[in-house]
Parts: sequence; structure tokens; C-alpha cells
Amino acid sequence: MITRRSLLVGAAVLATAAGCSNGGGAAPSSAASSAAAGGAGGDVGVFTWWADGSEKEGLDALIALFKTKYPKNTFVNLAVAGGSGSNAKAKLASDLANKNPPDSFQGHAGAELTDYIDNEQIEPVDDIMKALGGASVFPQTLLDLITVGGHVYGVPCDIHRANMVWTNSGLLSKAGITAPPATVAAWIADLQKVKASGVATPLSIGGTWTQTELFESVLAANLGSSAYTQLFSKGGKWDAAGVKQSITDYATILGYANTVSDGDDWPAATVMAADGKAAYNLMGDWALAEFTSKGLTWGKEYSSFPLTGNGEQLFGFLADAFTLPVGAKNAGGAKDWLNLVGGAEGQLAFNLKKGSIPPRTDVPSSSFGEYQQKTMTSFKNDKIVPSIAHGAAVSLAWSSEINTAMSAFYQSRNADALQSALVAAHAKYAA
Ligand code: GAL
Repeated sequence: MITRRSLLVGAAVLATAAGCSNGGGAAPSSAASSAAAGGAGGDVGVFTWWADGSEKEGLDALIALFKTKYPKNTFVNLAVAGGSGSNAKAKLASDLANKNPPDSFQGHAGAELTDYIDNEQIEPVDDIMKALGGASVFPQTLLDLITVGGHVYGVPCDIHRANMVWTNSGLLSKAGITAPPATVAAWIADLQKVKASGVATPLSIGGTWTQTELFESVLAANLGSSAYTQLFSKGGKWDAAGVKQSITDYATILGYANTVSDGDDWPAATVMAADGKAAYNLMGDWALAEFTSKGLTWGKEYSSFPLTGNGEQLFGFLADAFTLPVGAKNAGGAKDWLNLVGGAEGQLAFNLKKGSIPPRTDVPSSSFGEYQQKTMTSFKNDKIVPSIAHGAAVSLAWSSEINTAMSAFYQSRNADALQSALVAAHAKYAA
């Protein structure tokens, strides 16, 4: 461990851990890109978990552009299926430990990226980011999440919103629900209305990480942005009454959901809401692409609202960034990839398909549909709260411990045991 991590959580930069320094990790990379016309040449192995369905469509859009712009390179798709990297992260960890890194891999801006930095597994990409426009095109708040010791360690390709509740318009109208709930308590009342209208599964959920995402959204809405964000700093109060209340609310919400197993992925749950088998599904806005692929229109057959409370609008934040691993076999080819994902053309092609918004501010918003345009406005105006399930708030080890506790809770529904596990994980990992 070479650094004390700088945990700048969310664009509001609500909490800052002290003392981040690069203490002598990987050497800054020297070249901005391969600079060779048509690419550096050779295989370029890119690791993601965008292996199926709507997520693959986003990756495919990038691959198509990569082939056009860098015909000398051969893209090697190293995607490992499983939403939120549920399977991919273990494979990546073992490849990195065995000094067999891909040429670039997907990592989350925030705490997760600092894991790779602390472990000296990724190199700075300062020159690439500078050539891509740096702070003149990327939001400073996002740059803060990928910068340690003055060096930038990732090229962001998207900003996703995690705390979204997707709704089936037909089922809500049948239940007489006409407006989004302003609080978690109001949402629970609506879930009950949906149930009373005859819907067997008011809410669809997937396996463990989707439950973590649901729980973090309840937690942020109940606690408010400030208290929620402070949970991830040294003084975070996981034993607070608001956390206990959130666990109780979360258990009530689970009572309206389908039965699932640990590894069940997100698309099946989202499709239940699209197909009218569930009225609600809380999912990150990669779900948009799933609805779109079924020919449905946001605001018509389906809609969505962010889970909020305390009179605040909350933006559950996460962002994917691509890295330059230490020891990448084709660093030149990797730099071609990074230039593509960080450029305006790549960000337009990718985010249109992915449901996310481009981090770059020079990608025209008019190219996007209503949902994504609203997200762009929300990102500017709402309170930003970092996602636990998607690496913004907590390290890989911390999030894995939280997932274990969430999985145990799904079986036991023991609120005290969950809260104790959350308190213990904080004590172990908070910097
Ligand atoms: C997140 C990732 C998103 C999306 C999602 C579902 O962790 O940042 O881009 O892939 O998982 O798999």
C-alpha cells in the first residue's frame, strides 16, 4: 500500500480524506498516444463486463469506431459477463496478481480506482487526459475522483445514475399512482397500492449487487446527501438510527419483491418492469438501453424517478473509466483505446447506446433522448451521492464485505446483524 487514498466522494466533494500522495508508485506514462496513423498495431485486449444485451451494444459501438480509426490494431474483447463486474472483478484481480494484465480495463471512478493505484497496478494517464482536453472538457469534480497525488489514473467514458426507479406506466396507472413519491415512506405506500391493485410482484430485484444498489438508494434518500456521504469517511456513523430505519424500510421494500438467488443478473429484473410483470425496478440507467431495445419510449410505456427524500434531489453517482495497466503488453494500442473512449466521437457513440451521459461537456446534448437530457441537467443541479455497489464510495474489499452482509440479510432479514456487519466493515476499511 503506497498511498493513503484520497476519497473525494461525488461532485459535491463532500468529504476529503487527508494526505494523498503518490509516494513513488508507477512512473507517469510518457506518450499521449501511439501517435501512429492507423494505430500502434497488434492486439489490444480490453477487459470489461459489458458482455451481453444492452451493455454489449455500447461496447460494440466503441469497437466499431476503434476499427475504423485504428485499422492497424486488432481489438480483442476480453469481456466477462455479469452485471456490476460481479464475475469480472475476480478474474481481473487474478490476472493483475499474476502480472498478466489486459491492455486496458474498466474501473469505477472513486474508491475503486484508488485500489488499483494503491496496489501499483495502473499507470498515470496525464498526457492522454491533457491531450483530450483535461479540465476544459471534463468536470473537475470527476477529475478529482480519478486523480491521486497530482496524477490522473483513468479516462472516464460515462457517468451513470444508480438511484433510479424504473416504472411500468400501465401498472402504476391501474393502481391510481400519478406522481413519483417524494420519500422512501411514500414509495412504500405506493408499493402497497400496487399490490392492492392485484400485481403479485410490485418490485423486481436481481441478485446481491442489485440489492446493495437498492439499499444504498434507500439509505441516501433517508439520511440525506450529507449524512450519507459522511458514512464513507472515518467518522461515518453506521450505528445511527437513520441507518437502522433504512434497514427496516429496505426489509419492507423487499417484502414486495420477487424471490431471487445471489447471482441473478439485472436484465431479467428490468425486463419484468418492461413487460408489465413488475411495476417497479430500481436499477442504474444502463436499464434505459434495455427498455429501448424493446421499442419502448421513456415517458410513455415506462418512466423513472430517482429515489429521493428530505426535500433533496439526489444523483446516485458512478462513472466508468478505462485504465493503462502497469505492464500492458501493448501500451501503444491501449493509448489508442483510451484516446477513443475519452474523445467526443467515442463518447457520443457509446453513451447514446449505454443510457449514461458523456462526461465530456462538449458532446452535444441535443443528440440524446429525453431521459439522458434530463440526466445531464440533474448531474449539474442535484446533490451527488456516491454509489456503494459501483465503486464510487468504497474500495473493492469494503464493497465485497457489504455485499456479503446484504446477501446474508436477504436470507435472514436480521436487521441487527446487518447493521453490526456494516459497522464492522466501516471500522475495518474507512480511511
Ligand atoms: C456498473 C457499470 C455500468 C454497468 C453496470 C451493470 O458497475 O459501471 O457501466 O455496466 O455495472 O453491469
